[in-house]
Amino acid sequence: MIRDIVVYPDKRLKEVSKSVENFDKDLHTLLDDMYDTMVAKNGVGLAAIQIGVPLRVLIINRPLDIESDDPRVQQPKENTLEVINPVILEAEGSTKFQEGCLSVPGYYEDVNRFKKIKIEYQNRDGEKIIIEDDDFLAIALQHEMDHLNGKLFIEKLSIIKRKKFEKEWKKRLKKK
Ligand code: CO
Repeated sequence: MIRDIVVYPDKRLKEVSKSVENFDKDLHTLLDDMYDTMVAKNGVGLAAIQIGVPLRVLIINRPLDIESDDPRVQQPKENTLEVINPVILEAEGSTKFQEGCLSVPGYYEDVNRFKKIKIEYQNRDGEKIIIEDDDFLAIALQHEMDHLNGKLFIEKLSIIKRKKFEKEWKKRLKKK
């Protein structure tokens, strides 16, 4: 089921999400709904708080290079990484990447991140898994893990860029 996206400056986006304790049917429904919502909104990642659920759950799905009108073909569910209760074990180096966010629609800006990270997390069955990456996935994981701590990528901008963003955003909200 597609759910509504919580959009900045909604205060819920500042909430620190709680650890998942029960790896049950409710969690699986949440993960399935997050996939439906992410694909419907053309996102590559989504944290649970972005649909208003304050749990340490995130998903990432990079689109495949396939021509199709059906987003589910470009981002098959099997390709979705489901990450629950992630913890960073190692982080090193630095890189810059242009990021966007479904909760800040239509805005993109360069953000500094660690180049390489290693994390431990649990899958939908509660099994512990360790992964490391030094490419797109590393960036996406850092962006989504920030959501679990109530942080948005716009908080990492320089003061000048942030002021410019806030000005543009206010204008946009007024137009609606
Ligand atoms: Co985001």
